[in-house]
Amino acid sequence: MYYIGIDLGTSAVKLLLVDQNGSIACSVTKEYPLSFPRPGWSEQNPLDWWNAVKSGVRELIRSVPAEEIRAIGCGGQMHGLVSLDEHDSVIRPAILWNDGRTEKEVAYLNEEIGKSVLSERTANIAFAGFTAPKILWMQNNEPENFARISKIMLPKDYINYRLTGIHSCDYSDASGMLLLDVEHKCWSKEMLDLCGISESQMPKLFESYDVVGTLLPSVADDLGLAPSVKVVAGAGDNAAAAIGTGTVTDGSCNISLGTSGTIFIASDKFGVDPFNALHSFAHANGHYHLMGCILSAASCNKWFCDEILRTKRYAEEQVPITDDKLGNNRVYFLPYLMGERSPINDTNARGTFIGLSMDTTRADLVQAVLEGVAFAVRDCFEVAKALNIPITSSRLCGGGARSPLWRKIIANVLNIRLELPESEEGPGFGGAMLSMVGDGAYPSVESCAKALVHTAKIVEPDPEIAAKYDAQYQKYRLLYPSLKETFSALR
Ligand code: XUL
Repeated sequence: MYYIGIDLGTSAVKLLLVDQNGSIACSVTKEYPLSFPRPGWSEQNPLDWWNAVKSGVRELIRSVPAEEIRAIGCGGQMHGLVSLDEHDSVIRPAILWNDGRTEKEVAYLNEEIGKSVLSERTANIAFAGFTAPKILWMQNNEPENFARISKIMLPKDYINYRLTGIHSCDYSDASGMLLLDVEHKCWSKEMLDLCGISESQMPKLFESYDVVGTLLPSVADDLGLAPSVKVVAGAGDNAAAAIGTGTVTDGSCNISLGTSGTIFIASDKFGVDPFNALHSFAHANGHYHLMGCILSAASCNKWFCDEILRTKRYAEEQVPITDDKLGNNRVYFLPYLMGERSPINDTNARGTFIGLSMDTTRADLVQAVLEGVAFAVRDCFEVAKALNIPITSSRLCGGGARSPLWRKIIANVLNIRLELPESEEGPGFGGAMLSMVGDGAYPSVESCAKALVHTAKIVEPDPEIAAKYDAQYQKYRLLYPSLKETFSALR
């Protein structure tokens, strides 16, 4: 039997065909455009996602008999506002998780409504990328579009809707809307009222492994699948990645280096960071998690190589960065190319190189970019440490995890052991696993993870390098506070 896992990402959709023993039979990637209509804005057309999923699925299933495909599970980029009209047509391009246009709405929510009120209702405060501030932005700036909204959806839920005709959302993804009472797993009436929307405009809530429905006959026909194929609710990409890396037991941690960078700590019990620097969200296994998210991670290296160095040979750029260079770089990089979410919550922050001199080399800059991302992840890690969450090891996934150098930098900057699962395709694999649970192939997410997720590699920190990085991190920490006002003046 086979299962389809979909990772609806920001640069592309990655589809995996996985058998019930966890072997990946095929994988397909389809890219789509991302537009930045103004500095700090970030949008995509939901129809581009749907077209990419359709052509991806057709290609994916060529090698196996269609009747052996049982179910589909999707992990998707979180927080994006997809607005549908009364005919379920898309009203405007989706406003994505890394969009920073809602500064005013975030200030209104956090300062006028108040962080403690928001945290009480939703377990979280407002961040620019979250969905509720975007709904308010639409109300304030595009009232004619706002008036046409019949349904509000998140990116992967739009795909599930196109597959099944059902408006659904799972708890992990719904947590990032600032509309869900995360602890009690229901929409917050107060938050919906505050945003001028009613519960009938929201999708129905499910656990991630719940079956939402089966394929619409016309879609099944179009894709070459049986109409009996089940679709589970799926999860936000970070929760799906945590499932895919086996991060399901209390206190276990997963770090993802994708377009964004996240540190995800699974928890059996609901809990809130008293400073709300870490998000308090539902997990895709039915429990909860805390998460820190930096908006630009592997995307920093991609930007620097593609746009500045004009090369696609990322690995080649890293060859000169030998072990003796680690912890000795005099150049620092702040990775705030899209502003920053955790822990500083500042839409004005921008990417910065500092410490350049006449002897700075190309490789020093590449190294600074990789290290800057690692230091930003450590900023989130420090918040978790301050909450007395002991993290001595973590899984690592995402495109950045493919670089042996970056793995070494992360392990030493955080001074923890990293475990790399056999597949670094966290969200797609996790999506497929959720669909296996929904189909009854495994009785629980935990049993599925135990059977299917295996560690392929371990990266241990080196005490000498870790000590050097610790000293460098203390210097890195000085940079943002001294530039904060300047970022806002440069805006
Ligand atoms: C998490 C977040 C990002 C996106 C990336 O809160 O905004 O990790 O989910 O796809």
